[in-house]
Amino acid sequence: MSIGLKDAWKHSFHVGAAVCGKMMNDPEYDALIKKHFSTLTVENGMKFGPVHPEENMYKWDDSDLVANYARKNNMPMRGHVMLWHNQNPSWLFLDNGETVSKNKLYKRLEDHMAEVANRYGDVVYSWDVLNEVIDVDKGDENGFRLSDWYKICGNDVYEFAFKRMREICPKAKLFYNDYNNESGKKMDVSLEFLSRLLDKGVPINGVGIQAHWYYNFPKEEIIVNAIEKYSKLGLEIEFTEVDISIYEWDEKRESSQFFKSRPEERIVKQAETYKNLFRAASTSSAVKNITTWGIADCYTWLDDFPVPKRKNWPLLFDENKKEKPVVGSLIEEGQKRDKK
Ligand code: GLA
Repeated sequence: MSIGLKDAWKHSFHVGAAVCGKMMNDPEYDALIKKHFSTLTVENGMKFGPVHPEENMYKWDDSDLVANYARKNNMPMRGHVMLWHNQNPSWLFLDNGETVSKNKLYKRLEDHMAEVANRYGDVVYSWDVLNEVIDVDKGDENGFRLSDWYKICGNDVYEFAFKRMREICPKAKLFYNDYNNESGKKMDVSLEFLSRLLDKGVPINGVGIQAHWYYNFPKEEIIVNAIEKYSKLGLEIEFTEVDISIYEWDEKRESSQFFKSRPEERIVKQAETYKNLFRAASTSSAVKNITTWGIADCYTWLDDFPVPKRKNWPLLFDENKKEKPVVGSLIEEGQKRDKK
């Protein structure tokens, strides 16, 4: 059997995938995972709402299926995610019909973190403690997102979350994860936020660059620059949710303009963007992981989102779970670098 992505790049970083529990029983996914990927992330099942739907009830089925598979196959996991503004349960911010108090919300957060981190602490090596707390367009004057967390607790809760997680899991890597943080104002604000926390001694090990990108973005220099800037702060970098859309964000809102079949010229450009990422990532020992947000184009959150009824083809494997040509190129590139 020819070698897969994870072995071709093992001298540089992990290659991971986001999955859901039901994929663990599918022989085709099983074969792809074993060949190409060395870490797993649960796509939705470990998020606050799905895993903790009622105050006194946890629902572990989906994340247990993935964690048990990971344990059996000696695959470390990324833990995703503790504090985020989305996919929260309705009870979380309420107390007897009123907005919950700050103290009570802190307590709910720390209990939740301890429960989830203790269940998966043996297999998770890095946790997304915070996700997407920066919003440079609609946030406050410092760029903090006006989420329920922020409105009830203020931004001290971000520091608290990292500190508490460090106590709960002393050895895990603790990450701040976000999108669009590889360039522009969002990167500047993220760098400022992270360096402020690091200066105060807040335990943060790394930054997650989600990398929900487009067929024509970004160029290699942009990625290299982001890696340099974050690693100068002493942070590790993981590309946590990579998919390379064949559309720009909400391009072609008119269904008559959607691609009816896979647009091969964009797949060629998409391949270049994947190569830009792997090449840029291999320039720095601070990069520890490249995780794709899904495995094959038969199932991706980008089908029908953000434009309804629009098919997308953003991943490394096609709708039949077969390798796109880029996979072979990436394997070759990784092996070449190994020999240097
Ligand atoms: C964000 C989250 C992920 C996922 C994607 C969309 O990036 O971090 O967990 O929900 O959105 O699927």
